Amino acid sequence: MTALRQPDKTAPVITIDGPSGSGKGTISQLVAQKLKFNFLDSGALYRLTALAARKRNTDWADEDAVAKIAEELQVQFETGGEKTVILLDGDDATDAIRKEEMSLGSSKVAAHPKVRAALLNLQKSFQQGPGLVADGRDMGTTVFPDASVKIFLTASAEERAQRRYKQLMEKGESVSLRALLTDIQARDERDSQRAVSPLKPADDALILDSTTLSIVEVLDRVLDYAAQKGITPAG
Ligand code: DC
Repeated sequence: MTALRQPDKTAPVITIDGPSGSGKGTISQLVAQKLKFNFLDSGALYRLTALAARKRNTDWADEDAVAKIAEELQVQFETGGEKTVILLDGDDATDAIRKEEMSLGSSKVAAHPKVRAALLNLQKSFQQGPGLVADGRDMGTTVFPDASVKIFLTASAEERAQRRYKQLMEKGESVSLRALLTDIQARDERDSQRAVSPLKPADDALILDSTTLSIVEVLDRVLDYAAQKGITPAG
């Protein structure tokens, strides 16, 4: 990794953690847009690490080798257009990291403590003015424990499988709903049982269950809560 920017510790941070399919990716991006804040998709970093390991023929189970890959990750997030383009070693990896195979790979590499440690400073470097919305599993517990606002967004496993099913169908990937539900349950288990930074709400997080809420309803609740904590749109 080339030299990282020092974090701006005065910039407010909103952490949005939760399991996959809870809607946190969509909500985090919308919150960042509304507030004109920077955005960290920490899951993308684990996905990029898994993809980089695959490209280098490195086994996801080889903790030391994968941690070295994570440390040297050459990534760029190009924002500005309609969607963020993510480059790995200079190549567009935006779609490749979203495949089911990388969902599995990222969950495996994310279970290694050395990989998590290798990605820590890169994640912290995203804290810049006017503020940051950080999306992940351990944003409020480990990466930004002093965040001003912490949200834990969840939804039932069945609802999350349905949402993922719809997304994949729209992209033309054929999958079975039952297989997705089994995968989600296995991933939840792995993400919440691992020894380091397991998926769990921070003690001071607001827990939001999105099972029966629309995106707009969740967004409103998050923005109201942020406003109560003194966070309003920048500029
Ligand atoms: O949010 P996502 O589905 O893109 O995350 C991919 C994987 O990375 C997921 O299995 C959990 C893991 N992850 C993590 O362990 N810690 C984070 N802060 C973000 C993601």
